[in-house]
Amino acid sequence: MDSDKRQKRKRSYRPSSRPHFLSLRLLMVCLSFLVLPLFLSSGRFPIRTVYFHHPLLSVSSFSILSKISLQDSLRGKSRFHLRVEDRVLFPDHLLLLVSSKIYQADKLDCVYYKVLNDSVLIHHGVLSVDEYDAFRSLVRCPLPPPNYLATAVLRRRGDNVHRNSSLSTSRTVHSWDRLVYEATLDGETAVVFAKGLNLRPHRVSNPTQFRCRFGLGNRGKDGGLVLMTEAVAAAQEVVRCSLPRSIRNNPNKARGIRVGLVHANDRGARGELNPMPSVAKLYNSMSYMKKRKRGKYELCACTMLWNQAPALREWIMYHAWLGVERWFVYDNNSDDGTEQVIKELDFLDYNVSRHAWPWIKTQEAGFSHCALRARNECKWVGFFDVDEFYYFPRHHRRGLLGPNLLRSLVANYSSSRTIAEIRTVCHSFGPSGLSSPPSQGVTVGYTCRLQSPERHKSIVRPDLLNETLLNVVHHFQLRKGFRYLNVRESSMIINHYKYQVWDTFRTKFFRRVATYVVDWQENQNQGSKDRAPGLGTEAVEPPNWRLRFCEVWDTGLRDFVLANLADPATGALPWEKPVL
Ligand SMILES: *[C@@H]1O[C@H](CO)[C@@H](O)[C@H](O)[C@H]1NC(C)=O
Ligand SMILES: *[C@@H]1O[C@H](CO)[C@@H](O)[C@H](O)[C@H]1NC(C)=O
Ligand SMILES: *[C@@H]1O[C@H](CO)[C@@H](O)[C@H](O)[C@H]1NC(C)=O
Ligand SMILES: *[C@@H]1O[C@H](CO)[C@@H](O)[C@H](O)[C@H]1NC(C)=O
Ligand SMILES: *[C@@H]1O[C@H](CO)[C@@H](O)[C@H](O)[C@H]1NC(C)=O
Ligand SMILES: *[C@@H]1O[C@H](CO)[C@@H](O)[C@H](O)[C@H]1NC(C)=O
Repeated sequence: MDSDKRQKRKRSYRPSSRPHFLSLRLLMVCLSFLVLPLFLSSGRFPIRTVYFHHPLLSVSSFSILSKISLQDSLRGKSRFHLRVEDRVLFPDHLLLLVSSKIYQADKLDCVYYKVLNDSVLIHHGVLSVDEYDAFRSLVRCPLPPPNYLATAVLRRRGDNVHRNSSLSTSRTVHSWDRLVYEATLDGETAVVFAKGLNLRPHRVSNPTQFRCRFGLGNRGKDGGLVLMTEAVAAAQEVVRCSLPRSIRNNPNKARGIRVGLVHANDRGARGELNPMPSVAKLYNSMSYMKKRKRGKYELCACTMLWNQAPALREWIMYHAWLGVERWFVYDNNSDDGTEQVIKELDFLDYNVSRHAWPWIKTQEAGFSHCALRARNECKWVGFFDVDEFYYFPRHHRRGLLGPNLLRSLVANYSSSRTIAEIRTVCHSFGPSGLSSPPSQGVTVGYTCRLQSPERHKSIVRPDLLNETLLNVVHHFQLRKGFRYLNVRESSMIINHYKYQVWDTFRTKFFRRVATYVVDWQENQNQGSKDRAPGLGTEAVEPPNWRLRFCEVWDTGLRDFVLANLADPATGALPWEKPVL
């Protein structure tokens, strides 16, 4: 590589923070020195599994490792920067988990090898690049073309790919049907998220059917390399595992350890247990779960979205005015500028963080994950969507206007010994006669709704949830002894701008969010509340859409917003103004 290229590379791939770098080094060193490669064959693809030591899994190697890692850090490093650790095959794309931070998305290609002849390559530009956790990036690639393998590797545009340049890359592809996909440290346990457990929806399940596996690879013999523990709680897609003692005593060093699950009945031909494949790695959760020095925020919000950038500013600015102080936005691969909107809002001190959540149809699990994340920072967390807006009819009627209404309402229950969830019902608004998106925002534009409230949303105390973190879209199982409170409709309500103008609504057809809610495209469960009545299964504008879902005109929130938030001189609302 000539020095020019090297320079460029240095600029585009900034080395990440030092601790991260060192730990990455450690893994690299393990690879280059202590590798015990095993060649297994499984199905069509040759699978190479690499075993190596980790300080927590093999105490004796610890001192050697630290020495080597020092030497190694003096050597060149760029070569390893695009190491593909794992691949997950989704129906419409291939997700690569890469063990480094990547800053220049447009300069990368996905490279696919031809079936049975790996000297034939084909390449396509990546679909997107995203930050993932403290030490990994996400890269989305197109599905492999016919006759090419899904074991794609990455290369910087212009670089050559040698057949052996990907030796430090895993050669497996995981299917999304059955996969452990996330793991997070939580006190003396790890909370593990998995697809394909087939546990009963909406129920707490028996955890003893699982064992938890802590190791570096996905398969392999024990020999001190793998530690097994008990599962202590399970529900839906989430299993809580006890931690091995070495990790419990030393959580800072847990980074990079892969957490898997083993089903007690899932045995191979020789009676050996078959671990579920896993891409879930631990890292010290404290690095992102910053404990607040000045005490917890009273009220935070968790949401999951996909391509809802236009709605985000109004939603966050309005609710921040109502007193929401901190936001956790789980972004499922938006490509509409959502990331930019979040950065701008955070720059303006709205305290918004974005978390890449690439896992399709896992809203409940995502909420459990967010609850864990918010617990160290927040007394109360609201779980509601970007098209849902809290409103206070009684305060409004009495002229008790003013900011922080929502926060002061939940704060009224912060010292309660029984209430751990505050439920609010939703009014579903229709297109309200409009045929293009309202320029002043949804709260001002949509003013006609259905008569009866539907569903409810919750604000919960994250420290008082059941240990399973079980939730059924927007409502959690609480600890024993705690209950929810239904807020009266006349005092607090959520305006749910559920249908909106056709162009906005139709994107919902393709937004398959919740795991246990039937796809709208699937022609079943016609009576479900999650479907638009009479809509059928196609994204074709039904006649008279503008006038549907309109039983009562309700300008309450519109008037509330205009009276409180419009600029007295210009009439402009905060979300209408350019941010920077
Ligand atoms: C692989 O493809 C190359 C280039 O098309 C060809 O020269 C070579 O013979 C092929 N090898 C095999 C084993 O088919
Ligand atoms: C690939 O392997 C061959 C021999 O097996 C070696 O000569 C060559 O330098 C290697 N290329 C790279 C990029 O490591
Ligand atoms: C963001 O957090 C800081 C303290 O961490 C707080 O002072 C500020 O009010 C928060 N922003 C909003 C919009 O609540
Ligand atoms: C909180 O409680 C106080 C005292 O009971 C009450 O006056 C106030 O209206 C409550 N706040 C809200 C937002 O309901
Ligand atoms: C969590 O829920 C399960 C099932 O209802 C129950 O057995 C368990 O005691 C609950 N845990 C707590 C802390 O309330
Ligand atoms: C995530 O995005 C994909 C498209 O990239 C979509 O098919 C899927 O339903 C989305 N999942 C969630 C949870 O929003």
